[in-house]
Amino acid sequence: MQFRKVSHLYSLLGNSLVHPVLHPSAEKMKVSLEIKRDDLLHPLISGNKWRKLKHLLLAIEEQGSRSVAVMGGRYSNLLHTVSYIGYLLGWKVKLYVRGYPEQPLTPMLKDALRWGATIHLVDRQAFRELREAPPKLEEESFWIPEGGFDRLAVKGTIESLMEVPKSYDYIVIASATGTSMAGYIQATRYMKLQTKVLGVAVLKNDDEIEQHLNQLLAQEEAGYHLLEKHWQDSHRVIKGYEFGGYAKSTSELDGFIEKFEAQYHIPLERVYSGKSFFATIDLIEGGYFEAGSRILLIHCGGLQGLRQ
Ligand SMILES: Cc1ncc(COP(=O)(O)O)c(C=O)c1O
Repeated sequence: MQFRKVSHLYSLLGNSLVHPVLHPSAEKMKVSLEIKRDDLLHPLISGNKWRKLKHLLLAIEEQGSRSVAVMGGRYSNLLHTVSYIGYLLGWKVKLYVRGYPEQPLTPMLKDALRWGATIHLVDRQAFRELREAPPKLEEESFWIPEGGFDRLAVKGTIESLMEVPKSYDYIVIASATGTSMAGYIQATRYMKLQTKVLGVAVLKNDDEIEQHLNQLLAQEEAGYHLLEKHWQDSHRVIKGYEFGGYAKSTSELDGFIEKFEAQYHIPLERVYSGKSFFATIDLIEGGYFEAGSRILLIHCGGLQGLRQ
C-alpha cells in the first residue's frame, strides 16, 4: 500500500486511549494512576516515534523531498519507524547504523531491509563523528537528528497531551534525549495546566536532558526561563532508575516487568517503559506524590525492540 502524502498517514493513527490502573500501592497512598497508551497508536508506528516524526516529515515533504537519512543503534525504534514510514510513502531511506559486518542482522534491521531502506554500517568512532556533523547527503536528502532531537519533534508531542480531555497533577515519561519531555512541558504551558512533568532518565545523562530541555524550549517563549521558579516547578528529571544505563537491566527490573505485565496486561520493555513504570510505582510507594494526586504515565511504545 502506498500513501502519497504524509498527511494520508493520519488515517492510520487515531488518538491513543487513556485508562486507569488499579495498583494496590496507588490505592494505599491515595493517588490515582492512569496510563496513556501511545504504544497502541499503531503496530509499527508506535509511541513517541509518530509524535516526534510527524512534523519533521511534513516539513521535509514541504521542501519537496522524498529522501531521508537517520542514525541509530541496531535495535533503534526510530530507525525502524522511519524505515516503515519510508516504505508506506515510497521515500528513500538511508540508515547509518552503529554496528559491524560480523554482527548478525537484528529483527529491526531485517524489517528495514524488507521495507527497502539501505543500511550503512558505521563503527563507534564514525558514529561519534556523525553526532558532531551529519554525513554528506545527496542534495535532496534530509538528515533526521539522532533520537529525533528537534524542535519540530516537540510540536508533535504537544499534540499528544492536547488529545487528553482530563488534567493531571503529574505526567511521567521515560526520557533519553528529553525531546518528548519538552513537548509535554510545552503542552502544559499552552494549556495553562499546573501539571508537573517528571522525566525518568533511562540512561545516566540527567544533565544532558536539562540542557536539551533548555535548548528546545528556550527559543519558544523568550524570557520564560527568567521566571526561574516557574521553570523549576514545571518539571523534574528523575534519576536513579537507569538500572546500569541505556538498554541495561537487572533481575529486579525484569521481575517487575514480568509481574506488571501479568497483572495488568500491559506489555513493557526494558529500555524505556519498564524503567518509567518501575520508577512511577516506586515513587508512589516512597510517598513522592501527595495524597489525592492524579498521575498520568505515558507508555511511549518501543515494543519492537523486545525482539532478539
Ligand atoms: C519507546 C521510547 N520511549 C521513550 C523514548 C525517549 O524519548 P526522548 O528521546 O524524547 O526522551 C524513546 C526514544 O526516542 C523511545 O523510543
